[in-house]
Formats: sequence, structure tokens, C-alpha cells
Amino acid sequence: MVEPLRMLTREQRQRCMEEAGYNTFLLRSADVYIDLLTDSGTSAMSDRQWAGLMLGDEAYAGSRNFYNLEAAMREVYGYKHLIPTHQGRAAEHMISQLLIKKGDSVPGNMYFTTTRLHQELAGGTFVDVIIDEAHDPQSLHPFKGDVDLAKFQKLIDERGAEKIPYICIATAVNMCGGQPISVANLKEVYELAHRHGILVVHDMTRCVENAYMVKDHEPGYADRTITEIVREICSYTDIATMSSKKDHLVNIGGFLAVNDDELANKARNMVVVYEGLHTYGGMSGRDMEALAIGIRECVEYEHIKARVGQVQYLGKKLDDEGIPIVKPVGTHGVFLDAKRFLPHIDQDLFPAQALAAELYVDSGVRSMERGNVSAGRGPDGKHRRPALELVRLTIPRRVYTQAHMDVVAESVLEVYDNREQVKGLEFTYEPEYLRFFQARFKPVE
Ligand SMILES: Cc1ncc(COP(=O)(O)O)c(C=O)c1O
Repeated sequence: MVEPLRMLTREQRQRCMEEAGYNTFLLRSADVYIDLLTDSGTSAMSDRQWAGLMLGDEAYAGSRNFYNLEAAMREVYGYKHLIPTHQGRAAEHMISQLLIKKGDSVPGNMYFTTTRLHQELAGGTFVDVIIDEAHDPQSLHPFKGDVDLAKFQKLIDERGAEKIPYICIATAVNMCGGQPISVANLKEVYELAHRHGILVVHDMTRCVENAYMVKDHEPGYADRTITEIVREICSYTDIATMSSKKDHLVNIGGFLAVNDDELANKARNMVVVYEGLHTYGGMSGRDMEALAIGIRECVEYEHIKARVGQVQYLGKKLDDEGIPIVKPVGTHGVFLDAKRFLPHIDQDLFPAQALAAELYVDSGVRSMERGNVSAGRGPDGKHRRPALELVRLTIPRRVYTQAHMDVVAESVLEVYDNREQVKGLEFTYEPEYLRFFQARFKPVE
């Protein structure tokens, strides 16, 4: 299938950006030339997945596609129970409501926007226990997704294990650049957590990408298959939330996976309240079939090598030109370091948001802010000013060619050469939740 691409003039793009309130989420996709907003739900499905759509069993209950999906999940990840959801945040909502009590602390290897919000809505407080290197865009640590065990132990000592229902472990940590966690570190986290009766919840949205990095970089894993590594990662966790819109190569879908029978029953009872029956959970039968096929395709070595390889290609190109990016390059996108790119803009004037807007005006390339806007306000009402002020150039799977990556790199270089002209932004509308999605801004004069 081919899609027409539309190239607007710079003046037209300037007008589109003003109408979108300097927020790339508010642009119309028809006005975008190369869309690197997100890798979520933007993959191209394979011939086998499209064929699977024709096999949808749209029975309300007990669809055969559900059982295919359950079998694929068990085969690749090894969790016992599957509770389907329409996407990842529905699984986050359920597990947060089921396990977190008011006043609890929920440690994790860096926050993720929707994950943290659901923890907070359930009465918990997120505590960052990732290693310090993760917050430094220039640190070359190969496993920046690792947990600092001393930070985790300190939290247990201070709060008591009974106030920590679980630790949330993301694989290929999104907010610090798609950085992997090592299997060795995860195993230690699991052992420490279990010694204190704390569960391990796995945000496995990009677990397969993490497994690829383990195979490439962690001693002892070079000869293991991707599926073997994925299975080992999952074996050190108790529960998983999944946004299938990433690794699984589908446009919609997700699930909660758990090993405990009683918890599974509670989650099945909850899914009927919020999503749909426990054998479809917000997906149609055909969606579940495409997803079951995607789960098996995404662990094929040739696929994951090409996928991460394309991200590395763009990263190397930008790095070779001296563009400040997060290093090492991660798995799902290249992240521009807006603090070094636009040092003249204070973080409370949202340099990453301004940079994403400027990149679109320059070339029609759409990216996303992952900095002070995404981080939101802390309990004191102030912007959180995270150490990482980034623009994410996220690569959809199986969609673009290296030639598209060359166009992106050219545009980033062009904006870099004219960076002094970029101005900071201020809010004209700030939503209460997940403000980055719908906020509007204007340039500061
Ligand atoms: C790491 C991570 N966790 C959770 C989610 C939430 O998933 P969804 O967008 O499917 O609700 C996302 C998606 O953006 C993600 O990247």
C-alpha cells in the first residue's frame, strides 16, 4: 500500500503551527510530510497481519481470535493469564487501581506519563530509582534503564515494604531515550523486591527492542534468540502491562498479563467494567488476530535488527554532524538534547516544545516534546524541570526508508544552523492531565 505525501510551503507550515498552538499533537496529519511524532500505533502491518484481519471471529464471547492471542502471548512472554485491553493505559489503570492504596510509594526506572498519572490517580506517589546516568544525555552507559539498587533499598528502608505494592520496570525506557535495562540488573531487582514481598510490574511496551540490545551488548547473550531473552526478562517479573501499538506492530491493542490466579480474576472482573468482556477487552476479533500474528513477527531477528538499525542510522548521522543527541542511541527514536541545542531558552520557556515546532516549520517533519511540558507540574504546583529536555524523533516500524531519514537529518541540521532565532514559548492553555497532548502555546517576545 502507498500513501500520498503532501509537501506544504514554509508559509503554510508556519500558519498550521500557529493554528496548532505550537503543539505538534494538534497538527492535522495531512499537513505533515514525515511523521515522527510517535511509534505508537503507526507501524505498517505485514501481509500476514492483513490476512489475519479477514479471519476475525466477531462473537461477543469466546472469540477464537482471543484464544490465538492468548496462545501467542504465552508462547513468547510466558505469563499465565491474559486480560485484553484496547491499549496500554487501560492495563495501567486496572493494575494501579487493583494494587495501589492511598499513601503508597511506587518506585520505577523513570516515570512514564500515563503510567505515573494512573499511579497518582490511585493514590500513590511515583519514586524514581533509575541510575543517575539515565538523566545524563551524554553518559555512554550501555544500560541506562538499570535500577539503582541502593535507591530502591533506601526507599524500602524509609517507607517500609508494606507501603510499596510493586516496582514498575520499563524495558527500553521511553523517557530517557529508549534505553535498555540489563537482564543481570533486572534479576537483582526481582530478588530484592521478592525478599521484601514487593511485586515487579513490567511495562513491556518495548520489551523486544530491549531484548535486541541485550543480545547486542550484554555479556553472555550473543548466542541467545530474541524470544529466549524476552522469556528470561519476563521470568523476573510478576505482572505486565502492554501497549501492543509499539513492539507488536498493530495500530491498536494491548493487555494486562499476570501470573497470580486471584489477581487475574480481579482484573477480569474489572475489565468488564471499563473495557469489554474478558475475551475481547476493547478489541475486535480481527484486531486480536492481527495482534497474535504481530507478537510472533516482532521477535523475528531480521525484523528487530532492521528496526533498531534504522534508528541507529539516523542517530549516527546526526551525531556525526555534531548535533546534540541522547547517547547511546536507543531503540525507538533519536532524542535531540534541547538544552544543548537551544541553550539561550530557559527551561520554563519550553525549549524542546519550541524546537519540535521549529522543525515542523522548517520541513514538515513532525516530532514530539519529551521535557518540561511532558513532565508536568509537581505537588508544589511548579513545572518539574526534568534533567532531560528532549525532542523525540520517533521512528514508526516498517514505514520509512533510509532516504526519509536523510531528509530528517538535513532538516535538523538546517534548524541547528539557525538555532539562535528560535524563541521560547508560554502556555495559552494548560490542561489538567497529561498536558503535553492538548496544551497550546505562543512564542515569547
Ligand atoms: C513506555 C510506555 N508505557 C505505556 C504506554 C501507554 O500505552 P498506550 O498509549 O497504548 O495507552 C506507552 C505509550 O505511549 C509507553 O510508551
